[in-house]
Amino acid sequence: MPISDPHSFSDTAQGRIQHIRFDLDLDFGTKTVRGTADYRLEGAAPGSLYLDVRDVEIRRITAHGRELAWRIDEKDAIRGQRLHIDNVDGASELTIEFATAPTATALGWLDAAHTAGGKHPFMLSQCQSLHARSIFPCQDTPSVRFTYEAVVRVPAPLTAAMSADRLGIEEKDGHNVCRFSMPQAIPSYLFAIAAGNIAFRKLGPRSGVFAEPEVLDEAAWEFAETEKLIDATEKLFGPYLWETFNILILPPSFPYGGMENPRLVFLTPTLIVGDRSMVSVVAHELAHSWTGNLVTNATWEDFWLNEGWTVYAERRLLEVLEGEPYAQLHGAVRREGMLEDMRIFGMDSAPTRLKFSQKDMDPDDVFSMVPYEKGCSFLSLVEEKVGRERFDVFIRRYIETFKFRSLTTEDFLQFLTKELPEVENHIDLHTWIYGPGFPDDALVPRSPLLDDVYARLNDYRLGVLPDKAKVESWRPQQVEVFLKNLPRHIPVEDCARLEDIFGLATSRNRNILTEFYVVAINSGYEKILQPVEALVSTVGRMLYLKPLYRTLVETAWSRQLARPMFERHKRSYHPIAVGVIEKILVNAGV
Ligand code: BES
Ligand code: ZN
Repeated sequence: MPISDPHSFSDTAQGRIQHIRFDLDLDFGTKTVRGTADYRLEGAAPGSLYLDVRDVEIRRITAHGRELAWRIDEKDAIRGQRLHIDNVDGASELTIEFATAPTATALGWLDAAHTAGGKHPFMLSQCQSLHARSIFPCQDTPSVRFTYEAVVRVPAPLTAAMSADRLGIEEKDGHNVCRFSMPQAIPSYLFAIAAGNIAFRKLGPRSGVFAEPEVLDEAAWEFAETEKLIDATEKLFGPYLWETFNILILPPSFPYGGMENPRLVFLTPTLIVGDRSMVSVVAHELAHSWTGNLVTNATWEDFWLNEGWTVYAERRLLEVLEGEPYAQLHGAVRREGMLEDMRIFGMDSAPTRLKFSQKDMDPDDVFSMVPYEKGCSFLSLVEEKVGRERFDVFIRRYIETFKFRSLTTEDFLQFLTKELPEVENHIDLHTWIYGPGFPDDALVPRSPLLDDVYARLNDYRLGVLPDKAKVESWRPQQVEVFLKNLPRHIPVEDCARLEDIFGLATSRNRNILTEFYVVAINSGYEKILQPVEALVSTVGRMLYLKPLYRTLVETAWSRQLARPMFERHKRSYHPIAVGVIEKILVNAGV
């Protein structure tokens, strides 16, 4: 059935891309990818074919040796451009010769200086949500899936990695020719490619880690428990269907914490903190192998189906691995984050709803913790009403029924009320899915670990700071909850004391540092400027950049410092992050 996707110019009634064979050259000098893509279509219809592109240069389009006429529409700020291929006339195979623009929004081209090793350049892609179309012409909607194979040439000694099985590498004329095959069908947003000085270490029978040699040891230690995570997720969701699960540690400019590219999860190096306290992000990206990659949201308006389910799974995994009190603590951190995002958008605004119309909205601009945490809270409430046993059966049936398919929120609700009809007696489904804000009947995270934090926050209200010796044994997420709940404005002396109490001068945990910097900037603790700049100059993860730049522009003393700081460091950010931060600054009038 054709799905209408407000973020794509494609029309699935014309046929669907089923398989793509890529032949690609990566040119670090011009920051372009050049090559050909051979497409095989399913159900090709007579007439034209529309594909999504953004600034891709089209050189030639042929079908069975016959040259096809094409044209590109004017550019839409959010969706890019429609590529019209005239008169495909039911051909089920066609070839497009193309080249990306140096400004391709999906691609980060990093100078050697912005890598761990400092000797070789690096290239990385980020296709979710609307960026695959800046690399190659495609039906850039999560409702179309294709398999792919690729030959990728990169200058030696660099190698390439993709969201696929790497079949081999051959050296030829100063280049490494890497061959890939992806036999499981994926939507375009899960296409991924990276190239750099990348080494590999096996972690378990199905798992391994790719990273620059300089960080490989640390990365292998931090993520040593990956295979155990795969086993635990299989117990919850059923068999892992993607054969291998590798991790790629990117340079610090990677704009997200993690990205669930199949067979090759992309991770920010900021997860390497030396205490394994960030493995929940691996659990999250791994869980997407079922919820997201196997069962996929049909459009970005249904994004909560990907993320809400995945956070639910992540929390269940944490419960198994670390126990219920820790899982609850983790939930509390995220809930605070979601409520903060709701306040930023406005408690009644569209992005506080699980499903809302995103016509004329860029998914990158409405990205927030709402689909994650409100989605998970909704699923946890359903679980509570029907009991875990029945809910676990429901989960398995959900995955089994929709695997390798895409579904809308409405498909999901229909399935839910058919499988678990009693939920409608207990939960106002319509309010939860389509209503704004956070419903009152959401379960409240409870944990002794949280009680301790709330007691210390109470002390602080009475003028007593936490005892350094006592908080030394706190889990990092306890510190996060403490900092998130401080008044935004505190005395400057308290900033200095808290810095010492929580050992912030030497902490590698940027989640904690960002929380603290936000309070410190708000409080006029001007000494913090240098550590803030150190963070935004070394890390391009938006989870940190957004609150830091936002706080800088919203605070009188630092307002004029934000723009020059951004200009100094934006060269090291991914284009997606540059776009998002630029909008924050422009909207604030600087
Ligand atoms: N798929 C997302 C990342 C994403 C979302 C990229 C939307 C582009 C558009 C990924 O699975 C994710 O959720 N990452 C989180 C980590 C998570 C533990 C909350 C992140 O990057 O912070
Ligand atoms: Zn996710």
